[in-house]
Amino acid sequence: MTPQHNVTPATDWWRDAVIYQVYPRSFADGNGDGMGDLAGIRSRLPYLRDLGVDAVWLSPFYASPQADAGYDVADYRSIDPMFGTLPDAEAVIREAHRLDLRIIVDLVPNHCSDQHEWFRRGLAEGPGSTARERFHFRKGRGENGEEPPNDWESLFGGPAWTRVPDGEWYLHLFAPEQPDFNWEHPAVQDEFRSILRFWLDLGVDGFRVDVAHGLVKAPGLPDMGHGEQLKLLGNQVLPFFDQDGVHDIYRSWRAVLDEYSGDRIAVAEAWTPTAERTALYLRSDELHQAFNFHYLNTGWDAAALREAIDSSLDAMRPVAAPTTWVLSNHDVVRHRTRLGGGLDRARAATLLMLALPGSAYLYQGEELGLPEVTDLPDEVRQDPSFFRDTGQDGLRDGCRVPIPWSGQQAPYGFGDGGTWLPQPADWAGLSVQAQTGDPGSTLELYRAALALRRTHPGLGAGETVEWLAAPEGVLAFRRPGGLVCTVNVTEAPARLPAPGRLLLSSRQLDASQDDFVLPADTALWWEE
Ligand code: BGC
Repeated sequence: MTPQHNVTPATDWWRDAVIYQVYPRSFADGNGDGMGDLAGIRSRLPYLRDLGVDAVWLSPFYASPQADAGYDVADYRSIDPMFGTLPDAEAVIREAHRLDLRIIVDLVPNHCSDQHEWFRRGLAEGPGSTARERFHFRKGRGENGEEPPNDWESLFGGPAWTRVPDGEWYLHLFAPEQPDFNWEHPAVQDEFRSILRFWLDLGVDGFRVDVAHGLVKAPGLPDMGHGEQLKLLGNQVLPFFDQDGVHDIYRSWRAVLDEYSGDRIAVAEAWTPTAERTALYLRSDELHQAFNFHYLNTGWDAAALREAIDSSLDAMRPVAAPTTWVLSNHDVVRHRTRLGGGLDRARAATLLMLALPGSAYLYQGEELGLPEVTDLPDEVRQDPSFFRDTGQDGLRDGCRVPIPWSGQQAPYGFGDGGTWLPQPADWAGLSVQAQTGDPGSTLELYRAALALRRTHPGLGAGETVEWLAAPEGVLAFRRPGGLVCTVNVTEAPARLPAPGRLLLSSRQLDASQDDFVLPADTALWWEE
């Protein structure tokens, strides 16, 4: 296997990169079975190059029974047949590099699948076996061990423990099909360093680390101490999240990453109680970036956004890590729907995000302005939290519907077969084909914004934003190179002086006059 390193060499490329998340099931279907796959991804890489992103993060495509859409990995070194083969993965990496795109793959170290060889061996070899030491097997409480060993709850609902026929219980912070590894065990540590090397040797440019805050559990697995059900990926202080021991793991991983040329990176999905705790994952000998969920969770409110922006930048400064920004991903309601203001607000939010210093993460389909699909029938849902939770909160199928590429009806060019989740009947106008060339479309707005980020590197540069005076509810800030971003976060138009020449607008408007009206839910980029 010859790793491909012909992507443009650049030091610290990731510091202001725009990274596009591909959710393989739902991006493009190359073999017509209704499920997206690696061949589909490969065929659409030129689209991503033309969109103007720097890197592509691929959600898991590894061998998996798909109890949690691939976040239950049975074999970290092989590809699930539904997505293709290892040569297909190599072809995606090679082709991406040829197009000057970097590839980040998902690494799932907190847990594996219950079909992983180690777990199956642990089940077969029984209590007291060395195979069980690689997981968290315990005797239960109660007279006959019929109660779980502690009160931990799964993030998907219900107890975090499942009892096996011989009477022991095993820990799973997510679905019962996702047993947690015991990261105190040297074999687990060695295995993941080896998995890192396997993918680095294949040429990947980095890893997105799933549940990076969860690997180490508090000694003795103490009760979490309250009976309230956890919300998915909450950021409470908990005995199974954000334990100090995780940092030793990331130091050892950084040493592996640094053995390789070409600035290979790792980005943490780390939910911690504070941004300062998140920054600890980004010390110079640990990981490179972390998702900024504080920003993602900030509502459409000028003061709250300004606070989130400043505090995010402040928190990362001591460790000299770039701040990241994200509005949508495969676990949350799409921002067009979540922010409550429709497409205008979503587009304004995007231009605001792309003018901030640091790196930005996009989720497939947001460049088409896709809304959350909120009316999926129960019988098609696949999110494991749907089956374990009584409420509708945290359901994640609505943002995972296959994206529309072309044509008038489903599957809208997704592939030659159907789609694993049904697409809405009114998505024809949202397809890539329908939006291409239409200057008012969301796709062309993203293309224009990403092109400007390349010609005006000041947009992603630096570690601060310089706030400018602005009417109540309007955010205005200057970026290096004399670029100004103004955003009306209110529901009413605002009047303000034009700071210069208009470069880009999140919606069409006439800004030729000196003193102009900035409509509600609108963001503008200016050159002074
Ligand atoms: C992923 C989810 C997944 C969970 C368990 C995450 O945070 O983003 O999609 O269900 O980890 O692996």
